[in-house]
Amino acid sequence: MTDRSTILITGASSGLGEGMARRWAAAGKDLALCARRLDRLEALRTELVAANPGIRVVVRALDVTEGEAVRTTFGELDAELGGIDRFVLNAGLGKGASIGSGKAHANVETATVNVIGTLNQAEAAMELLTPRGSGHLVFISSVSALRGMVKAQNTYAASKAFVSTLAQGLHAELDSAGSRIVVTDILPGYIRTDINRSVKTSLMTEFEEGCDALVKAIDSEPTRALVPGKPWTAIGPMLRLLPEKVSRRLV
Ligand SMILES: NC(=O)c1ccc[n+]([C@@H]2O[C@H](COP(=O)([O-])OP(=O)(O)OC[C@H]3O[C@@H](n4cnc5c(N)ncnc54)[C@H](OP(=O)(O)O)[C@@H]3O)[C@@H](O)[C@H]2O)c1
Repeated sequence: MTDRSTILITGASSGLGEGMARRWAAAGKDLALCARRLDRLEALRTELVAANPGIRVVVRALDVTEGEAVRTTFGELDAELGGIDRFVLNAGLGKGASIGSGKAHANVETATVNVIGTLNQAEAAMELLTPRGSGHLVFISSVSALRGMVKAQNTYAASKAFVSTLAQGLHAELDSAGSRIVVTDILPGYIRTDINRSVKTSLMTEFEEGCDALVKAIDSEPTRALVPGKPWTAIGPMLRLLPEKVSRRLV
């Protein structure tokens, strides 16, 4: 495990991104934080620097669906902090509706942010990491990537399957080339944030506990991790292997 001192997080204006930023700031890391809501990022920067006066925190408004803006912004933040050694591709959207229900816009928006947005970020981060030959690229996917989901979660799950497949392919490519660039695919289960405020499930993990587990998992730099480990390392394989009629009752 390598000590990563400079970390970029997208989707840092709320939820898991904000929670990870607080934890890495407390660990003395310099941070680059991006999202569309700049006012929230600025308030977070003020809070983090006040609590951890030794660290640098830079923030930028960024829509991850705009490829050229992602490339420019990642490049500027990388230069400003003297080299980012971990990129956490966390920005994501969980809107959705049954296919054919007349709410195509919600599914298209979710697919655009989670698929095109993640691809834009991976391209921009790899352009910076490749010449250095080292660094850590973290994809925030979801346990829903493991199996097709119904209704409002269908497009979201399909978009996260894209994220995990992209991470797996990139890991295979870099690993076979003997690269020191580490790729990690993180599949969170339900952790209480804005994205799942309408979800009712006994499998929900509380926010602080979920963020602790996420940061611990990412810092150990695995190829893939279901987070929190309990219960998801047990449920994950069942989602893949059990007949669909049985597995859909699990989540
Ligand atoms: N919480 C869970 O149970 C759970 C489970 C599995 C996976 N995840 C994944 O974890 C990640 C974080 O989700 P969360 O739970 O923390 O939800 P959240 O509180 O809704 O946070 C989502 C973040 O993504 C940002 N974002 C959305 N669209 C964006 C865009 N077009 N450009 C840039 N940033 C954008 C939002 O910032 P702005 O609106 O300010 O742009 C926000 O900071 C997502 O990828 C989500 O799919 C969450």
